[in-house]
Formats: sequence, C-alpha cells, structure tokens
Amino acid sequence: MILLDDISNSLKDLKEKSLLRKRVVINSRKKNLIKINGKWLINFSNNDYLGLSQDISIKKAIINGIKKYGNGGTSSHLVSGHTEVHQNIEGITKNNIGFESSILFSSGYLANLGLITTISDKDSFIYADKLNHASLNDACILSRAKFFRYPHNDMELLERLLKKNKTKKKKLIVTDGVFSMDGDLADIPKLVQLAQKYDAYLYIDDAHGYGVLGKNGQGILEYFENTGPMKKIPRDRIIYTITLSKAVGVSGALVNACKNIINLVVNKSRTYIYTTAEQPALIMGVERSFEIIKKNYSLRERLNKSINLFRKNINKKNLLTNSITPIQPLIIESAEKTIKISEKLNSYGFHVPAIRPPTVPNKSSRLRISISALHSQADIKKLTKVINKILDNEN
Ligand SMILES: Cc1ncc(COP(=O)(O)O)c(C=O)c1O
Repeated sequence: MILLDDISNSLKDLKEKSLLRKRVVINSRKKNLIKINGKWLINFSNNDYLGLSQDISIKKAIINGIKKYGNGGTSSHLVSGHTEVHQNIEGITKNNIGFESSILFSSGYLANLGLITTISDKDSFIYADKLNHASLNDACILSRAKFFRYPHNDMELLERLLKKNKTKKKKLIVTDGVFSMDGDLADIPKLVQLAQKYDAYLYIDDAHGYGVLGKNGQGILEYFENTGPMKKIPRDRIIYTITLSKAVGVSGALVNACKNIINLVVNKSRTYIYTTAEQPALIMGVERSFEIIKKNYSLRERLNKSINLFRKNINKKNLLTNSITPIQPLIIESAEKTIKISEKLNSYGFHVPAIRPPTVPNKSSRLRISISALHSQADIKKLTKVINKILDNEN
C-alpha cells in the first residue's frame, strides 16, 4: 500500500539520521525528581522554573475549584464555559502587566494560532525571527500572510525588510520573548522602536519569560523596563502572550492587548471559539500562582543563583548560549552524540533529554538543560561535574 510504504520509509529515514523520537513514560514526579523505568532521576528537563507545579497552596486552590465547579470546562466560552474565575484572571493579568485588556486561551499553542490568524490575512505582512517557536510559525503560515523569517535577532536585516515594504498594508513583527531552545532574549526595546518607525504591530510570545524575568516576575517587558533604555515600554503596538504551563505551573495562556483586539478575538478567533474553556478549577490554581510569583522574590533569587553557578562551572564555555534565563542549552551539534551524552547523564542519575531537529535547526542538536528553583546548589554542582567529565572523555 502506497501510504503505508511511505510511512515506513519516513520512519526508517528518521532512524538512520538519529532523529526518531520516542516518548519517555514518567512513573512519578516529586520536587526536583522524576521517576522513569522505576528509577528516580534529578530532572533538568522541564519548564517548571519556579517549582510551582508542585506547590501545595496551588494544589489546594485547584481542589477548592473542583469542589465549586466540578472537573471539566463543560462548554466553550461563548456557550456556557466562561465562569467568573475566567473573567477574574483576565482582570488580574491586565493589572499586573499594564494592557487595556486580556483573554484566556486553553493553551499557549492555541493562543498563538488564535491571535495571529485573527489579526492577519492574505494581504498582511509578517516578519518573524527564525528561531521562533513552532506554534508561532504555524500561526503565521495558517494566517496566509506574506511571511518573512529574519535571521535570529538580526535587527538590521529586519529593518531592511520593513524599509523595503512601501505598502500601506498591515505589518506584524512576531517574536519569542525568551527563545525556547536557546534561552536568549529578543531585543524588545529595538523591536518596539522598529514597530513605531514602520507602522507595524509587535507580537511577543513570553512563554518562558513570565514568572522568571523582571523584579516582580512580570516577564520580559518588566525586565527591559528595569534594565533600560526604555523606563516604560509603550503597550499601544504590542500584543503580549504568556503561557500558564511553564513558570506559572498550571496550564493555559493569557493574551494581553488593546480592547478592540481582544473583542475581535472573542468574535472571530477559531481556537478561542471552537474549543472547551479551560477547567475553572485550574484557573483558581493560576490565581494563587500569580500571587506567589509577584511576592516571592526569593524563588527568583534562588533560581538566578543556580543559573550563575551552572554557567560558571561548565568548563566548555563555547557550548553555552548567550542566556541569562533558566534555559541553559549546551550545543553539541551532532544528533547521535547528543543522544549518547543524554544516555550517559541518565546513567549518572540525571534526566536531560537530547533536543534534535526539527525542534532546533540542523546540526545544532543540544542538551536543553533547564534549571528550576527546586534545584539545590548541590544538584547544580553534581550535574556540572558529570557534564565536564563526560565532555572531556568525548574528545
Ligand atoms: C515559546 C513557546 N510558545 C508557546 C508554547 C506552547 O505553549 P503550551 O504548551 O501552553 O501550548 C511553548 C511550549 O512549548 C513555547 O515554548
């Protein structure tokens, strides 16, 4: 059969290139540990940067939510799924981050797809960083806009592209805030400046910045306002999305923008309208998580101490990226070699999966080490010692 023959060939091809993916079955999770095949490992693989997926007060809030509303979301937002909990959380982010309005989606993927396809169409122009998350690329393709991808963080090239566009059509610049596989930051002040100069709008996906960056954990906009050169980043040309599945420790996503954009989403966004609303109980957990993120500076201090220690202790500095965030990849390049190192780390008691194409560009396979406030300084010392030893033996 042609279809099945083709599938077998695809799988064979992936295997030959060391790109075949297998799912790892997790038996259990506890603090900084993960149990796989009955063996507890120190987990350096998730996006739970503040450890809030394990927080007892958040668990209690979710249980209270289940008692009040039941288990499920029961319906889409426009039918009978939009509870006062959903409404309240939109008000909280609006106040915290300083946008006119905010809207909750059931996941970050759906938020990116829903927003970009709602505000762009075949007459629009989209300019996107080459290392943006797959969900942003999918959204740009699905919108049918003319889609240009500029080299990673290359602001000069982006400006050249914008300058060349003499039309009066809609222009959107799309970027990750913190790049999910490299951990480095988009140059938000420069992007805002370019958006103003060329009458474009700026879409920022801050999935990995919210909770972690900024004095109050309010993400990449707060971070750049803390560090300059813009003391206050104007919000009027920005759409700013945070996911609730990473540092927030629950699930879902909140998109922040001006009132009219949010109103249009309610009316037109297919990934908002045609899916069941997120379970209200989970949102009660998110409310509690937001309180912790805003008040608990010590979690971020602890995290930053571990990040600095990791970078200081790694001997082969050339493998590190330019990252100040919990995402600390070591770029190994060869997929085969990355898998081998990941397996060795497993034998020493660490879970650090190999990240390979197409998640990252060809020849840039890596160990994506993600650090969490749940890790102790001793965990970081143990990990870096083992990594240094393995890498020394590889050469
Ligand atoms: C940058 C970025 N955007 C969006 C998403 C999707 O978010 P979610 O997992 O909530 O669908 C991810 C998650 O992997 C991400 O890394």
